Amino acid sequence: MIFLKSVRPAIAAVGLITAGPPKDLNITDPTSIQSVAKTLAAGTMEYYHGTETQFVDLEQPYYWWECGAMMGAMLDYSHYVGDKSYDKLISTALLAQVGPKFDYMLPSHFGQEGNDDQAFWGFAVMSAAERNFPQPNTSIPGWLEMAENIFNSISGRWNTTACGGGVAWQIFPSNPNTMDYKNTVSNGGLFQIAARLARATGNQTYVDWANKIWDWTESVKFIDEQGIVLDGGSSRENCATPNGVSFSYSTGIYLYGAAVMADVTKDAKWTTRVNTLMGGAKTFFTPFENATNIMYEHACEQHDVCNVDMRSFKGYLSRFMYASTLYVPEILPTVNELLGTSAKHAAQACTGGVNGTTCGQKWYVGGFDGTVGLGEEMCALETIQGLLVGSSKPPLKGDDIKTVRTFA
Ligand SMILES: *[C@@H]1O[C@H](CO)[C@@H](O)[C@H](O)[C@H]1NC(C)=O
Ligand SMILES: *[C@@H]1O[C@H](CO)[C@@H](O)[C@H](O)[C@H]1NC(C)=O
Ligand SMILES: *[C@@H]1O[C@H](CO)[C@@H](O)[C@H](O)[C@H]1NC(C)=O
Ligand SMILES: *[C@@H]1O[C@H](CO)[C@@H](O)[C@H](O)[C@H]1NC(C)=O
Ligand SMILES: *[C@@H]1O[C@H](CO)[C@@H](O)[C@H](O)[C@H]1NC(C)=O
Ligand SMILES: *[C@@H]1O[C@H](CO)[C@@H](O)[C@H](O)[C@H]1NC(C)=O
Repeated sequence: MIFLKSVRPAIAAVGLITAGPPKDLNITDPTSIQSVAKTLAAGTMEYYHGTETQFVDLEQPYYWWECGAMMGAMLDYSHYVGDKSYDKLISTALLAQVGPKFDYMLPSHFGQEGNDDQAFWGFAVMSAAERNFPQPNTSIPGWLEMAENIFNSISGRWNTTACGGGVAWQIFPSNPNTMDYKNTVSNGGLFQIAARLARATGNQTYVDWANKIWDWTESVKFIDEQGIVLDGGSSRENCATPNGVSFSYSTGIYLYGAAVMADVTKDAKWTTRVNTLMGGAKTFFTPFENATNIMYEHACEQHDVCNVDMRSFKGYLSRFMYASTLYVPEILPTVNELLGTSAKHAAQACTGGVNGTTCGQKWYVGGFDGTVGLGEEMCALETIQGLLVGSSKPPLKGDDIKTVRTFA
């Protein structure tokens, strides 16, 4: 077992990182992690055709939300690996999506945008705020203010008519997915953003909301005693019979929100919740006896029914498990064991394509399985770059958060 905090000293300076083949990953060598992450970041960015001055939507079949997820992954790449070469491109992409009210409600996506989509851009904007990531457009608000706008936009849709509360999955009644479903990724997204804003600003309103959303999620049994986060339930039946399916990312989203709340409140109940959610997180590892501690998406992966969205979910569980260790260090040994093993196997799955560096989907098959896509690249990227979380600067808060206008 490795302890990531101990890898602190050896991060190479910017520019010195050379891209290396994932198959050579050594999870105890920070230079090796940086080098593999650089290859995977390039593999991820092959799916994005924007530039430092021009945003371009992802091509089909990738939805708008996944671009927000991608920018969040790339912000972590910049922060953990120390390679700033994509920073301007990331900033341009985030700024192109602010919308007229600077809350990531985009007229071009009206009709389709869901609360979870807005939340995924919100995670990225929040990370930008917590790291003083440059926001060069002086005529619009800084990242933190925009994250607050996103919070106010989503929380304004809290609806107590059914299920005693919660926001619906969708925002627009015209969406074919209807307004009847309340899901954990939307409510968990709001919960995590509230928790991070509570820490960043010290404003009690966000603490109160984080408590309210958690309590509501438990009240409708979307989180059970084992820390399993279910996908959601129908408001037509008052959320009485939750949909039994559980996805890795919903667990990750609540886990990190709870870890941030443990830091904000210093109340042991949040640490207990983090530990319970870690129990739920463990269900996404060890698909077979011959694949101990390897992550998989159990709702779909073994049966080859993961859709394009689902093929990216493991990455967010990794992202938020790593981030949670900064606030609740007692989970570090477990996270290291689960994600260290998964990182090794993810690297062995990134051996396809013409360059022998393209990632597959199933990390438990002992190699590349032939399934390729943006989700596959991002899952490996997040699981491998996160190994460096212990040597990164923790998220800023309070007066340390400033709107920086220029790139270094
Ligand atoms: C992995 O990296 C560690 C730390 O740099 C080193 O001690 C070890 O020998 C490396 N393992 C291999 C197989 O190269
Ligand atoms: C594969 O290699 C070619 C030639 O070096 C390079 O242009 C391309 O970006 C690489 N693709 C990936 C996904 O790394
Ligand atoms: C700054 O943002 C505003 C509002 O979104 C936009 O109209 C303007 O073009 C942006 N300026 C630059 C330099 O990108
Ligand atoms: C709240 O939810 C109910 C159904 O549960 C719906 O009929 C109503 O339109 C919703 N209210 C708002 C403001 O969206
Ligand atoms: C706290 O946050 C809420 C929600 O964004 C906002 O309405 C309120 O003005 C904030 N309070 C302070 C003291 O900044
Ligand atoms: C592990 O076991 C599963 C199920 O029996 C099998 O499909 C898979 O190929 C095995 N993996 C390896 C690497 O042997």
